[in-house]
Amino acid sequence: MAKILVTYYSRSGNTRKMAEAIFAGAQIDGTVAELKKTKDTTIDDMFAADAIIMGSPTYFGVMAAECKQLIDESVKYFKKMKGKVGGAFTSSGMIGGGNETTIMSILEAWLIHGMVIPGVCTGNHYGPVAIGEPTEKDLEECREYGKLIAELAKKLHG
Ligand SMILES: Cc1cc2nc3c(=O)[nH]c(=O)nc-3n(C[C@H](O)[C@H](O)[C@H](O)COP(=O)(O)O)c2cc1C
Repeated sequence: MAKILVTYYSRSGNTRKMAEAIFAGAQIDGTVAELKKTKDTTIDDMFAADAIIMGSPTYFGVMAAECKQLIDESVKYFKKMKGKVGGAFTSSGMIGGGNETTIMSILEAWLIHGMVIPGVCTGNHYGPVAIGEPTEKDLEECREYGKLIAELAKKLHG
């Protein structure tokens, strides 16, 4: 069974709503999905997962400190995370407020870990983005993204 971990930080609830939708979409046959706040996520949780999807609000165009802290701690497993599937999503205050750079800041860490990242050819190309409160369309995209990551994790690790 491929294991999918959705870990997120959210102060005012927007990223949390996206995380819940991604978690719902990741629940396909042959996978087990887990949803955790970053403060409750350990680096061992990350190591145990076959796919890690991290969500953060956009803070100054990059991920929030709490997410970066978890990633920094994951250096313990440097070179051992190779081949896991990685994904990222964000909520920002405005279009052009640095949401894509925030996603890339997370995906860069996954690449440095040697992880595999799927692109998205329909919808937001690097991972789900919502401006403020996610709309139903945003949440549907999040569910699709969860499914995309789960299907890849199942193919590679199921
Ligand atoms: C410290 C801080 C920095 C922020 N920086 C940005 C920013 O650079 N660009 C932007 O569009 N929104 C920025 N915002 C707005 C948040 O990204 C936005 O409100 C988001 O929806 C919050 O997500 P949450 O509800 O999951 O906490 C910032 C908010 C805070 C508190």
